[in-house]
Amino acid sequence: MYKMNPDYLLGLELMDTQHQYLFELMEKAQGLLKDENILYKYDELFEILKGLEDYTKKHFKNEIALMESLDYPRLQLHIAAHQGFIDKLNSFEIDAEKISLGTQDQMIYDLIEYLKEWLQIHILDCDRKVVRFINGENITVDM
Ligand SMILES: [Fe+2]
Repeated sequence: MYKMNPDYLLGLELMDTQHQYLFELMEKAQGLLKDENILYKYDELFEILKGLEDYTKKHFKNEIALMESLDYPRLQLHIAAHQGFIDKLNSFEIDAEKISLGTQDQMIYDLIEYLKEWLQIHILDCDRKVVRFINGENITVDM
């Protein structure tokens, strides 16, 4: 099983568990990319994309509820960042409809790269700001 780098741990149990699962889905995509026994990967790719979308929506709801309960000043910006992720997943789903044997691995690769970058920026910057706010730091909308 994929082990999340400790840098990504926020110290908020629910968030950390949910983030761990998102890393596992990314790991699943990596497995699919390397799998040479599956000829046409559309079904598996679509399942991963759907899993990401469903799980992320649930996870975002939990995060937003937490931020609302804290009166977190960057809530709207954080919601916008989440929406950007959902939109991108939707565009991957649309593109997945058009994949062929010749393009599928590139698309899975692009998805993995996007997830890597997004999880890094989002967890290490946006989500970590929430933790800093919980710890009493003055977090403002323009930082
Ligand atoms: Fe978030």
